[in-house]
Amino acid sequence: MAESLASTYGPWGVVAGGSDGVGAAFAHRLAAQGVNVVLVARRLPVLEASADEIRARHGVEVRTVPLDLSSPGAPAELEEATAGLEVGLFVYNAGSDDRSVPFLDKDLGTHLGLVRRNCTAVLEAAYRFGGPMVARKRGAVVLVTSGAAWAGGATLAAYGASKAFDLILAESLWAEWRGSGVDVLGLVLGRTDTPSLRRTEGAQGGSYGGTLADPDEVAAEALAHLSDGPTWICGSPTPTGGSPFGALSRRDAVLAMSRGATSHSGR
Ligand SMILES: NC(=O)c1ccc[n+]([C@@H]2O[C@H](COP(=O)([O-])OP(=O)(O)OC[C@H]3O[C@@H](n4cnc5c(N)ncnc54)[C@H](OP(=O)(O)O)[C@@H]3O)[C@@H](O)[C@H]2O)c1
Repeated sequence: MAESLASTYGPWGVVAGGSDGVGAAFAHRLAAQGVNVVLVARRLPVLEASADEIRARHGVEVRTVPLDLSSPGAPAELEEATAGLEVGLFVYNAGSDDRSVPFLDKDLGTHLGLVRRNCTAVLEAAYRFGGPMVARKRGAVVLVTSGAAWAGGATLAAYGASKAFDLILAESLWAEWRGSGVDVLGLVLGRTDTPSLRRTEGAQGGSYGGTLADPDEVAAEALAHLSDGPTWICGSPTPTGGSPFGALSRRDAVLAMSRGATSHSGR
């Protein structure tokens, strides 16, 4: 019989940004395999509703930690809130951009908040939760990133740069921790049907159309490939392949990304 996630990695999973969309789908999939989950998000009613649904459907223990991951100190608070739990899986999912606009059209404070949530807190969480996994010689870390990581592009400055940070961080940790029993996956997503995407596109004038990935399928695919890192490009015919920009010059890749970002959501 195939090993369950709980027996392979450990009894608890943390999903940072686990109350809706892809994060909630990860939490359901973990719970379905017997993993108790800790969900982190800001909006308490959405967080508690998601926790109740997971408890009712899967019968596992669910804890909620209401936190803003862009606040300095959030990963330390999360570590404290989970003290004593053997966290064998950590999914850092929170990370979308709620408005794709030119760099100078956003407050500096908004950019810095995104960088704290998408870079500083991701690194800190990987350190605080990955360290004990390496010491135990088992665990899995998933850092959710985006096709926006492949090249720079207009309206994507802070977001794309933060997602490139996550991609390189995941790949580097994979290289360091392979052989230690800890799997690391940089999960590259394309446009995915989440409440956050719908809010963003709604605020920017309606849906951009095109095919959207299903969050549950994304989570299932990622969990089936935890040991196929460093990078998994969800929904791609070559999910372990390189950048879709292939041999394009950096200049042409940036121009192509900019055209895509201004005609689509910049996710
Ligand atoms: N959806 C797409 O089309 C798409 C495409 C490419 C990549 N991605 C990547 O996929 C991941 C998930 O995207 P998503 O569309 O589901 O939207 P998201 O807003 O990144 O994730 C939603 C979850 O994160 C929580 N969250 C957001 N900001 C938070 C913060 N500052 N502190 C704590 N929790 C926070 C949300 O709850 P609260 O709002 O209540 O805090 C919710 O639980 C992101 O990393 C994104 O970059 C998404």
